Amino acid sequence: MLVSTKDIFRACYGKYGVAAVNVWDMEQIHGLFSAAQKASAPFIIQTTPVARNYANPFMLISMISAAASIYPDTVFAIHLDHGNKEHALQSIESGAYTSVMIDASHEPFRENIAVTKSIVQAAHAKNIAVEAELGVLSGVEDDLVIEGKREKYTQPAEVEEFVKQTACDSLAVAVGTSHGAYKFSGSQGLQFDILEEIQEKLPGFPLVLHGGSEVNKEEIQRINASGGQLGVDAKGVPNDEILKAIGYGVCKINIATDVRLIWTRVHREFFKYTPAQFDPIVPGKSYMEAFEEFILEKFELLKSSGKAKQIKHIS
Ligand code: 13P
Repeated sequence: MLVSTKDIFRACYGKYGVAAVNVWDMEQIHGLFSAAQKASAPFIIQTTPVARNYANPFMLISMISAAASIYPDTVFAIHLDHGNKEHALQSIESGAYTSVMIDASHEPFRENIAVTKSIVQAAHAKNIAVEAELGVLSGVEDDLVIEGKREKYTQPAEVEEFVKQTACDSLAVAVGTSHGAYKFSGSQGLQFDILEEIQEKLPGFPLVLHGGSEVNKEEIQRINASGGQLGVDAKGVPNDEILKAIGYGVCKINIATDVRLIWTRVHREFFKYTPAQFDPIVPGKSYMEAFEEFILEKFELLKSSGKAKQIKHIS
């Protein structure tokens, strides 16, 4: 059942986290929906502009809608991840998304507000929610001076005005994570002091954590044992930090890198251990299963298992 992204946030705020998983192929869509049906967990399925270019937006949305019929007990929202103005407007116009992200975080504060506000107006006219971003999501370097580090993060002093002016429905915050497999170069982690300040300024307002992949060490080892060359410094967000962040108002945890790592591990092992095989259905099936298993574990971690019914009732 397709539900509003806002209803998901209303239900989960402060209690559990919702996995927002990037998809670009059929195997992932099967794995994700199958896991959600088994766990009775709500989720957000999201597509980036790159994925939309790769698969074609119509293909992705059609596969998602087919999956909703194949797994009828699922409760989910469909989200555009990292849209610019054009992508966001196209997605709003398509009527297929329950929420869109407008990423104008690279713009100066006032321009970010103006762009975000224009998207919010178009989206709200169609009952679609908007995720905005404030702060620059990037890696944290050991040698940056403290002031330099803080500049990259979401500035708590700006969040209230930003949300008030734009009327966005959720806010992606830069609190130390980055996209990809190399998030931290040292022992850094999430900046909970900043997150706490943001929550104090925006009590009850849903926050979004981009760069939420765990980058499991065992996956890295298995990839490298099968010919991969990922760096030993590959590192993601530890599970305990994700859980702690949920307590500070983080509702949506974005996951894409972990998905890529599972794909890489499954396929590298397939080619290494069964070199005489050449049937894509064999690794495709293993990938679906491995992905489903990963998602089931994620639902357990985020404490979203069993929460789908509650959202069905309020939607
Ligand atoms: P990861 O690279 O940690 O998976 O983050 C994905 C993301 O934030 C997509 O918007």
